[in-house]
Amino acid sequence: MSSQILTKNYLENTFRFRRLRSNSVLAEMYAETSLNLNKFIYPLFIVDKLGYKEEIKSMPDIFQQDIDNALFEIESLVKHGLKSVILFGIPTTKDATGSQAYDDNGIVQRAIRKIKSTFPELMVVSDTCLCEYTDHGHCGLIQGNTVLNDESLVILAKSAVSQAAAGADLIAPSDMLDNRVGFIRSSLDDAGFKNIPIMAYSAKYASSFYGPFREAAQSAPMFGDRKSYQMDPRNSREALREIEQDIKEGADIIMVKPALSYLDIISQAKAKFNHPVAAYNVSGEYSMVKAAGRNGWINEELVIREILISIFRSGCDILISYHTKDLINFLAKTNI
Ligand code: PBG
Repeated sequence: MSSQILTKNYLENTFRFRRLRSNSVLAEMYAETSLNLNKFIYPLFIVDKLGYKEEIKSMPDIFQQDIDNALFEIESLVKHGLKSVILFGIPTTKDATGSQAYDDNGIVQRAIRKIKSTFPELMVVSDTCLCEYTDHGHCGLIQGNTVLNDESLVILAKSAVSQAAAGADLIAPSDMLDNRVGFIRSSLDDAGFKNIPIMAYSAKYASSFYGPFREAAQSAPMFGDRKSYQMDPRNSREALREIEQDIKEGADIIMVKPALSYLDIISQAKAKFNHPVAAYNVSGEYSMVKAAGRNGWINEELVIREILISIFRSGCDILISYHTKDLINFLAKTNI
């Protein structure tokens, strides 16, 4: 037998994947993942200075702005399909206990009220944490160089309740202190907010990708780092235990953060738990793409689409991303 016949027999018995790829209509039909704006939450940084709007240097197209400017931005995004925002408040005064975090007239509470009354259909998520409100920049109360756990829960819960009272649809604790989900859950229940769900930042890593956010939210810690409460990037089994614990405490949605260096965690969380999984495509991940895009080193739109697809492919159901606005622009360009 000649080797040519052998080769022919071999080729006759192989499967041809390229048959499916050769027809673009068919390719669209069998695509396993797609980008759906309904699954996106867009972050906003709200400052307490009338008329203020300033681009964050390391995050092109993302702003620190007052409530009115935020309303303008939201209006144009809602027109093109935005369904949800997550709010970060930047108060004018900070103190040791982060008292602005639970002030009924605080910046985030006022922003929630105004946004909900202007756009009742928009789902408003409220990040619950103390780092933007404390003068030391840590996510809880401190004693010496220690971040106190149980004492901080009282303040976090007060903050969550005041956000719910202002009209927040979903409470998202991002502090990573122990037992905060259960504590916040029972405080919300006691205050009459049994139906307000919690999206817990369950596996939140001590990540260097948060750098630009800390500039945006003015929340960098004055001393030390967040490693005594946020997770070690080397660990994945611990992330699953954190998630399991948050579910036991009553988290309705669990979150993995950051997204891109932690796609394995998202995928394990999806496989292991029957809970909705959220991911946070964080500031540093956004800034790197924007920097490369601005330099002409990558095709920015295609890279953003590929990144967003990768996060959904890994198993996430809900995505917080600064790229939400990019996606809206891409879709408006191609769909309208
Ligand atoms: C507050 C908080 C942080 C982020 C979201 N909530 C920063 C941090 O923990 O230092 C980061 C978001 C981002 O980088 O986009 N605890």
